[in-house]
Amino acid sequence: MSTSVMNSKGYIAGIEAPFIQQMSEITHHMWSLGWDELNGGNVSYLLEEEEVAKYINLREPLRTINLTFPVTELAGKYFIVTGSGKYFRNVIKDPEANLGVLRVTDSGESVEVLWGLRNDAVPTSELASHFMSHIERLKVDPNHRIVLHTHATNIIAMTFTHDLDELKFTKALWEMCTECLVVFPDGVGVIPWIVPGSSEIGRATADKMKEYRVVIWPQHGIFVTGGTMDATFGLVETIEKAAIVYNLIGSREIKQKITDRQLADLAAAFHVTPKAGILEL
Ligand code: 13P
Ligand code: ZN
Repeated sequence: MSTSVMNSKGYIAGIEAPFIQQMSEITHHMWSLGWDELNGGNVSYLLEEEEVAKYINLREPLRTINLTFPVTELAGKYFIVTGSGKYFRNVIKDPEANLGVLRVTDSGESVEVLWGLRNDAVPTSELASHFMSHIERLKVDPNHRIVLHTHATNIIAMTFTHDLDELKFTKALWEMCTECLVVFPDGVGVIPWIVPGSSEIGRATADKMKEYRVVIWPQHGIFVTGGTMDATFGLVETIEKAAIVYNLIGSREIKQKITDRQLADLAAAFHVTPKAGILEL
């Protein structure tokens, strides 16, 4: 295991970089919650050139990896991503083997590996979904930086027993905990089951990202986006909490619940606009 590497230009590319630390901490935390079994889950984090340049030599790419889906919109952009087949449990112990810092080439047809992904590792197999989601979120949110995919247990369970209509799914989550509507008034998108790692699931996810920060993958997990690691993780945490409550209730009789009127009052009090077409007043 290496903690820092001095390359020929004298740059230190090591775990002291704040973005590497943040990726190590968040992956460890998600693994400890039981959401990221085996190599489940992946994270990508859009970085500013200046922050990368402080720690990593930008002029000596280690290698180039071709993409199966061109992303011209992201040309010249920098990302730190989790590696494919890598276990979240191990990231914190050896970031350089399990994470990679990438730069998208000018053509948008490949990425240069600037740091990490040791021993010819490759970026997450969900890179299409990540990159396509970054493109759509950047169009609607200039502060957007993170795409996080995880196999949050209770969200997966809920996709077996709840209708997959996204407005109904959103409402069920809003009804489970009072804070939910305040945290995600824009709701959650839901796509059909699609083979993971494919450009098709990438396109379907990104299409929803035009409208939503969150997309549920039935019987698989969740894709969540945000401007900071805290905000992005907090969003999954909140949705997973609602799903836990939903699953705990199960088919038991509900004696009282948050009414649509109360949800509307809550939205007014917290100055958020609930996604249209859900509350019946
Ligand atoms: P990767 O190990 O390629 O990131 O895949 C994990 C996963 O969760 C696929 O959906
Ligand atoms: Zn997955």
